[in-house]
Amino acid sequence: MNKQELINKIILKKEFSQLPKKDVELAFEHFNKRGYVDEEEIKFTRNLLRKVFSAFTSQKILSLKNKSPKWILKKHLSTRERFNFYEEVYGRLFKGLGKKLSIIDLGAGINGFSYKYFKKIIPHISYIALESMGQLVSLMNNYFEKEKINGKAVHLSLFELENVKKLIEKTKEPRIIFLFKTIDSLERLKRDYSKKLILEIAPLVERIVISFATESMIKRKKIKVKRNWIINFLEENFNLIDDFELGGERYISFNK
Ligand SMILES: C[S@@+](CC[C@H](N)C(=O)[O-])C[C@H]1O[C@@H](n2cnc3c(N)ncnc32)[C@H](O)[C@@H]1O
Repeated sequence: MNKQELINKIILKKEFSQLPKKDVELAFEHFNKRGYVDEEEIKFTRNLLRKVFSAFTSQKILSLKNKSPKWILKKHLSTRERFNFYEEVYGRLFKGLGKKLSIIDLGAGINGFSYKYFKKIIPHISYIALESMGQLVSLMNNYFEKEKINGKAVHLSLFELENVKKLIEKTKEPRIIFLFKTIDSLERLKRDYSKKLILEIAPLVERIVISFATESMIKRKKIKVKRNWIINFLEENFNLIDDFELGGERYISFNK
């Protein structure tokens, strides 16, 4: 099979059917070089795509409609872990930012369902989620429409940097960027891409927040891997605003 045929086969699986082409190609390139047979290329690419995109999402989210935000937040691994801490987390991250804010949530998963928590702290919010899993984008947009929320989810890969920047520039200032538990996903597909992304978007925004898990999402064990490379990079290039851990997640906020 040629490359296009292999990719077409890979995305026959429903969970990958709505991923941007760019993301699937990046995953595929990892296994296209080393002389694997077709079946292996398909299998290994799908395994990688699963780790980067769909592993966090319960299939129930994708099939059941009209569930409450609480139900949905608890069906995604990342938001489930954060659920009991939302008010405290947003309270800290928004400190000093005033009453108006544009939130741009990169690799949002279903975090748009936590809209009511940030609305409690900042009265005038405009929210935009960028996410590769098309199914999650539709889910959030249905919710925003139904609840008449000033929010929008956009189906876009974070690897499409120029489009990401254009979308950020269209929002009103001041702006805050969330990159919650997404850096590992980006690094798995393209090493050092998170640094490039952060450097390019930082001049456009008031504040960036990155987060990562400090406990394994499944076994509740402390993760041993040190994220020194990203911490050093942030310390060298940015002004750190806050750094704290809550509910097995470490949050670091910074600006230029
Ligand atoms: C671990 S989840 C975190 C979700 C959310 N940020 C949170 O913490 O609640 C990672 C999310 O990033 C998305 N993602 C990974 N790589 C992406 C990319 N290149 N572009 C857009 N979204 C991406 C995945 O689909 C997934 O929803």
